[in-house]
Amino acid sequence: MTATEAPLLEVRGVVKTFPAGGLLHRRVVHAVDGVDLHVRRGEVLSLVGESGSGKSTLGRCIAGMSAPDSGSILFDGQDVAALDRAGRVEFRRRVQPVFQDPRASLDPRWPIARTIAEPLVANGMGAAAARDARVAELMSLVGLPRHLADRRPRELSGGQQQRVAIAAALALEPELLVADEPVSALDVSVQAQILNLLAELRERLGLALLFIAHDLGVVEYLSDRVAVMYLGRVVETGTVDDIFEQPQHPYTRALIDAIPHPDPQRRMTTARLAGEIPSPIAPPSGCHYHTRCPWAVDRCSVERPGQTPFGPTHEAACFVAAEHPFPPRTSVTLQKGTL
Ligand SMILES: Nc1ncnc2c1ncn2[C@@H]1O[C@H](COP(=O)(O)OP(=O)(O)OP(=O)(O)O)[C@@H](O)[C@H]1O
Ligand SMILES: [Mg+2]
Repeated sequence: MTATEAPLLEVRGVVKTFPAGGLLHRRVVHAVDGVDLHVRRGEVLSLVGESGSGKSTLGRCIAGMSAPDSGSILFDGQDVAALDRAGRVEFRRRVQPVFQDPRASLDPRWPIARTIAEPLVANGMGAAAARDARVAELMSLVGLPRHLADRRPRELSGGQQQRVAIAAALALEPELLVADEPVSALDVSVQAQILNLLAELRERLGLALLFIAHDLGVVEYLSDRVAVMYLGRVVETGTVDDIFEQPQHPYTRALIDAIPHPDPQRRMTTARLAGEIPSPIAPPSGCHYHTRCPWAVDRCSVERPGQTPFGPTHEAACFVAAEHPFPPRTSVTLQKGTL
């Protein structure tokens, strides 16, 4: 990619709220609160953060399954909201979702070959014989033995079901997969197999992947870059090295600290994740993280921090780090109060 080429996906200032419901009917849930990010062609960007931070909501907006309240999503340089009918059909071909629970995308009554062929049928692609050949090719691509073609989803393991869902998602040769925790519903023993499959597909097909995950260990293995979300906002983005070696946002540091690590040298002991994530109905003022942040200063509860660059690929939204960048994680332990 040349420096001037637009990213495959660009998210600009996306906001998404939901009615809070019940007695709080006049209030709203701030699920996504002004997010900017981009994914380049063939790149794996992981989106991480605690439960409720807005990852799935943002993923649904990006996959075209939900419309943002404001802000824009550009795919291949074009505003998705401004696409005409033909443009939307093309967008839905080029961007495919993969869900946590594979059963959500599989019809229980259909043999899996039919599920995999369905996107081809729906888009009027190929004669029956050509479709059969394509289904066989897709099954082999995702490592499904051919003899499973006539089985129903319930006859397959969870890992095999997810392979079927991935095969169906790949049928129309998309350029971006939006995978929302695609392995977290699977047995631990098969999670690695599906992750390896995604890594391999990305390599072979040049796919870009927006990978939504809880598990930072998985993210470190699969990603080129990582975006960390907290209460609807992206607080830090960077390459895997930026994020894991030199995290700048205290929330990122706390998340990394929470990963169990056998090597004590690689454990960070200064920024524990204290307390619960606040309600997105009434998020804290200023930096949303200030209520849990051991380094918060007065300004943090008043002003929303903008993104500060910490390197060519690295930025974080933290007033404290902007003034005194945090040292690499592996260096001498930093104690609260030494900044
Ligand atoms: N359809 C909806 N109606 C009302 N509130 C919603 C809806 N979808 C999401 N929310 C709320 O928006 C916030 C963000 O939810 P979201 O599912 O995007 O978070 P998440 O980061 O994906 O969490 P998890 O890690 O648990 O999957 C949460 O407070 C959630 O309750
Ligand atoms: Mg989610």
